[in-house]
Amino acid sequence: PPDIPLANVKNHLSQFQSIATANGGNRAHGRPGYLASVTYVKGLLDAAGFQTQQQSFTYGGATGYNLIADWPGGNTNDTLMVGAHLDSVTAGPGINDNGTGSAASLEVALAVARTGFQPTRHLRFAWWGAEELGLRGSTFYVNSLSAAQKAAIGGYLNFDMVGSPNPGYFLYDGDDSDGTGSGPGPAGSAEIEDTLEAYFTSINVPTRGTDFDGRSDYGPFIANGIPAGGIFTGAEGRKTAAQVELWGGTTGAFDPCYHRACDTVTNVSDTALDRNSDAIAYAVWTLADDTGTPGE
Ligand code: PHE
Ligand code: ZN
Ligand code: ZN
Ligand code: ZN
Ligand code: CA
Repeated sequence: PPDIPLANVKNHLSQFQSIATANGGNRAHGRPGYLASVTYVKGLLDAAGFQTQQQSFTYGGATGYNLIADWPGGNTNDTLMVGAHLDSVTAGPGINDNGTGSAASLEVALAVARTGFQPTRHLRFAWWGAEELGLRGSTFYVNSLSAAQKAAIGGYLNFDMVGSPNPGYFLYDGDDSDGTGSGPGPAGSAEIEDTLEAYFTSINVPTRGTDFDGRSDYGPFIANGIPAGGIFTGAEGRKTAAQVELWGGTTGAFDPCYHRACDTVTNVSDTALDRNSDAIAYAVWTLADDTGTPGE
């Protein structure tokens, strides 16, 4: 798997910040900064050779958009999807939440194109609208699929907040190994969690499980039996003393600017963003060449 250049990921964050600044300070559903963000991401993917679709939906009286990008090739009956929400809250530019997941996924997609990666599975990337209003875009997408189209998605990787300034390294607990009570995910979710974990083990960074309860866009996928997983560096919750021992940082919020105007380009841990971008690439390269049966 390629080493994803942090500078490229950070350039995308600067672009999202500029888009917000030029559009009333946010990139929220129904606001011009959202569509400008879609246009930015779509332009890069089109130029790289992806087949893109801008899927429209209506929520709260405003038009929202999902951007779906297919990489030509691979078994379309066993598609691996990677997704991140591209919208912010209205309070601010949404750089950690979720410029980070959007930019890291974008740079992994561009690395697929640069390297000419031709995996056995089909690859599809998605940037979701209106997550902040209740997972509206991802829910619209999953509901738009036929039963056969849902069955063709063998796995879904979600990235929402992967550069928190006081980061933890949490993996969605698809096998419920920490017993937090959110329950195991669909069969196949454990393999996704194990694959992400293998990357962090290789760089000697410990991980912990986090609730797999549907608080981001993987929710509609697991509700339909599609295996899923992802990384999360923490939001409004506070890092415990034990977690400071594990990861460094301070016993305060993982992201003190969560859903606030101060969620700007300075509200990001470069170390976390770099590690997590590389982890996404590792998972895509490893899982996309899965030789087992779909979803396993
Ligand atoms: N979905 C939440 C938001 O966008 C963030 C979050 C992601 C919370 C993953 C928990 C787990 O505000
Ligand atoms: Zn790197
Ligand atoms: Zn989010
Ligand atoms: Zn949010
Ligand atoms: Ca659990």
